[in-house]
Amino acid sequence: MASKIIKTVRTVAELRTIIADWRKTGHKIILVPTMGALHEGHLSLVRLAKEIGDRVVVSIFVNPAQFAPNEDFGSYPRTFDGDLDKLHEISTDLVFAPPRDEVYPPDFSTHITVEGLSDGLCGTSRPHFFGGVATVVAKLLNQCRPDVAIFGDKDYQQLLVIRRMARDLDLGVEIVGGPIVREKDGLAMSSRNAYLTANERERAPQLHLTIEEIAEGLADGKSIKPLLDEGHARLKEAGFDVDYLEVRNAENLAPIDGQVQESARVFAAAMLGKTRLIDNVAVPGSNR
Ligand code: PAJ
Repeated sequence: MASKIIKTVRTVAELRTIIADWRKTGHKIILVPTMGALHEGHLSLVRLAKEIGDRVVVSIFVNPAQFAPNEDFGSYPRTFDGDLDKLHEISTDLVFAPPRDEVYPPDFSTHITVEGLSDGLCGTSRPHFFGGVATVVAKLLNQCRPDVAIFGDKDYQQLLVIRRMARDLDLGVEIVGGPIVREKDGLAMSSRNAYLTANERERAPQLHLTIEEIAEGLADGKSIKPLLDEGHARLKEAGFDVDYLEVRNAENLAPIDGQVQESARVFAAAMLGKTRLIDNVAVPGSNR
């Protein structure tokens, strides 16, 4: 089995020994943090990592700190053996899969908050989320000390929060974003798509279609409010319970009113049955 071949370490000490060896030979090291249940979106980040670096580490850790008690930590898909096979196929150099205690010893007491960027969008309905993400990513970056860490545009707010944290704390790592990988019908790939029923899966691409249409309308110079109102109605009609549908500045996530005159993205999160889906797209013609 392929999974028996890929090198997997469970402790920070083992990770650091291997990285130190790589460093001696001057390798450029790239980290791709994940929570497993890997799909093409994750794998695209690993491929990007292989293009820009010499050695690629993928971490797999379902981080309890970023789930609220009522969320899906317990049922989050765990497909470790399959993940290892996929990573082996694309020649990942090392998998870091720490047990919970290795990351959070019983008396763990530190928490990182990235103010401002963590508010609004996903931060409103998931107030615990970005603190949990920032804390675990700071740890992963310290444990691995990569030259570059790669995150997906799929979780665009997360990408900006992590980039800001890395800068603010002088973590000495470059944070690179990778484009969103979609199913043929436009649905952004996500480990949580596995929760969708067949009927929900058919309706799910409406989220992407709706934000694309809003982005195109904005590029044509239309006003934000009527486009968002139309988008809300369309998503409701398709059975979504909309959490947010917003246009924000792509660099600092500041809300944008009226018409788009700056680098902007359309952001959406919505429940489809029991599944929370998020997506975002750039407004064409505005900078990324
Ligand atoms: P996870 O949801 O497993 O995602 C791992 C990385 O893959 C993230 O950077 C995410 O943005 C990226 N990703 C997910 N779906 C993608 C898609 N369709 N196209 C491109 N990239 C995609 O995000 C997390 O884990 C966690 O919050 C983590 C950063 C690992 C911290 O626990």
